[in-house]
Amino acid sequence: MMDLRNIVILTGAGVSAESGIDTFRSAGGLWEQHRVEDVATPEAFVRDPELVLRFYDMRRAAIQTKVPNPAHEALARLDHAWEGDLLIVTQNVDDLHERAGAQRVLHMHGEHLNAWCTACDVRSRWTTTLIDCPPCPACGATALRPDVVWFGEMPYRMDEIFAALRSADLFVSIGTSGAVYPAAGFVRNARDMGVHTLELNLERSQGSAWFDETRLGPASELVPAWVEEVLESCPLPWKRHRPTPPPGHP
Ligand code: OAD
Repeated sequence: MMDLRNIVILTGAGVSAESGIDTFRSAGGLWEQHRVEDVATPEAFVRDPELVLRFYDMRRAAIQTKVPNPAHEALARLDHAWEGDLLIVTQNVDDLHERAGAQRVLHMHGEHLNAWCTACDVRSRWTTTLIDCPPCPACGATALRPDVVWFGEMPYRMDEIFAALRSADLFVSIGTSGAVYPAAGFVRNARDMGVHTLELNLERSQGSAWFDETRLGPASELVPAWVEEVLESCPLPWKRHRPTPPPGHP
């Protein structure tokens, strides 16, 4: 087992699939039911805001009826137990990682349960609808949009993600097809930085060849098994190897 201290985990729609949330690119997935250009671009929002807002209102309502599955729960367990750096970078806009209890979560594609005011730039927790043009709780303007990154927009907090990758020992990708950049490129970025890479997915992703190791199966089985493996076989080895500080040193 490598000297494992810092872990970056990338999750995609596959981690929430067994909670009953549709993935994007599987047969019958969201992008078969809706055209990306109609509902997930800034141009679509200008052209037909009602269609876009209705789409996101429905999805915002739907995710609140779903519950975390064993994959989310296992990652939350790892987050609590792991004393090294750990970052769950999720492409998912649901809140199932948080509802399972994970804290070190970064939503690079935004969050369904936020509304973003394009007038004052404040993000507010939002659980209801936006189609009725409610006022922004911060400034009162009727300029709220879903706080979701659309195609053609820059994902959030890229600097933090790359900083975490630079200091990582292990990069794990879970339940993502590897079709959307920049997330799809993290495996190559990680490799270039000398980080060990592991893929857990139902089927090989588009970037599968870049991973050091691939395990195939449902996330609800693979993720708990991997988390147990990490926690059992790697009880913070760097702590054992850390030299005892000299007397008087904090
Ligand atoms: P995709 O729908 O592209 O891919 C989901 C992946 O999860 C596929 O590789 C499936 O094989 C796998 N999968 C499905 N069920 C699984 C299960 N039970 N266990 C493990 N894996 C499973 O979704 P993402 O890769 O997340 O972006 O898509 C990336 C981005 O594309 C999304 O964040 C979204 C979308 O357009 C934006 O909206 C900006």
